Amino acid sequence: MYAVVIKDYGDESSFEIDETLPLPELKSNQVLVKITASSVNPIDLMKRQGYGRSIFEKQRRKIFPWILGSDFSGHVINVGQKVTRFKEGDEVWGCTSKASSGTYAEYAAIDQEEVSIKPKNLTFEEAASLPYVFLTTWSAIIRWAGLRPQDLNGQKIFIQGGAGGVGTAAIQLFKYWGCEVSATCSAKNVNLLQSLGATKVINYHNEAFQDILEDQDLVYDLLGDSVLEDSIVACCEVLKNNSSSHYISLTHPLINTLDDKGLLFGAPHAFFLRQKIKSAHRPINVHWSIYRPSLSGLQELTHLSEEEIIKPIIDSIYPLSDISQAHKKVATGHGSGKVVINNIL
Ligand SMILES: NC(=O)c1ccc[n+]([C@@H]2O[C@H](COP(=O)([O-])OP(=O)(O)OC[C@H]3O[C@@H](n4cnc5c(N)ncnc54)[C@H](OP(=O)(O)O)[C@@H]3O)[C@@H](O)[C@H]2O)c1
Repeated sequence: MYAVVIKDYGDESSFEIDETLPLPELKSNQVLVKITASSVNPIDLMKRQGYGRSIFEKQRRKIFPWILGSDFSGHVINVGQKVTRFKEGDEVWGCTSKASSGTYAEYAAIDQEEVSIKPKNLTFEEAASLPYVFLTTWSAIIRWAGLRPQDLNGQKIFIQGGAGGVGTAAIQLFKYWGCEVSATCSAKNVNLLQSLGATKVINYHNEAFQDILEDQDLVYDLLGDSVLEDSIVACCEVLKNNSSSHYISLTHPLINTLDDKGLLFGAPHAFFLRQKIKSAHRPINVHWSIYRPSLSGLQELTHLSEEEIIKPIIDSIYPLSDISQAHKKVATGHGSGKVVINNIL
């Protein structure tokens, strides 16, 4: 089969097309998918550059040349012995969390718990744009903040960085859950965010959100301190100062700290930082969220997409052979929705 691989960490020029790879080995709980489309997430760029090497290096060295990519849509070609929910020919979509099942490829063997039947009303390219970003927000709310959709009904939610892949899906989900949504973006994305249902859209070049917003119930911070200095302080300023308020950050300091300081010193340092920040903002609940797979989340996304409650927002589509350009586009940090890959060479 063919795939784009990296033989070592590096910049966008590290990708090579390899057309001589063996088909992935199919385990009994896996589905072999011929991939029609995938997409690029910022985490792919980070992994390409070595993010997480302090923890995963041993495991990764076994899988180089490494195929990156998590989102996929395509057709089932074969199923493992324990798979009952799928058969050959099914149109499927989902998102793999396994480093050894990268989706910048012709085929991938995916755990059945990370696969669902693709909504018929979405094209393969549209479908590949949604699972990772939707499930990121699903994990943030349900798993990390411990909230239920009904807890959010009528709540005021502020999304810091609403115009990217995660933000455009999150605005739609929070609206569906009955929230009043505010979000920041640049001028070119204001109309898009309004059309998705955000009530207050703040152009961060012209105004500071802290001057406009107050009494929010939840802040979903997609940028963190890497883009906005002291983002957490600014975000907590606009929250109600009580124990029902939640600040959720998607930029988890743990892995970067481990990569910088090593496992031995990094882990206690990261733990210390985390506790310090949590105490400083009490009574507000502070959470750092990391993507986690969820079959119930993927099935809910399937339902919401079929009902056209969540719609795909696509910035651009690149052929797999132009993966370097697709990564450069995401690296600008200023897209409108998702960068999608057409995997057919
Ligand atoms: N923890 C996790 O598991 C997890 C999972 C997914 C994503 N993430 C992280 O979440 C972040 C967002 O991911 P994504 O997929 O949505 O990225 P993306 O698609 O690349 O979107 C980036 C967005 O950020 C906006 N932006 C840039 N600077 C801004 C600023 N100063 N104020 C407000 N908005 C700004 C841009 O909008 P404009 O063009 O309008 O500026 C752009 O639309 C990334 O940092 C990613 O690494 C974490």
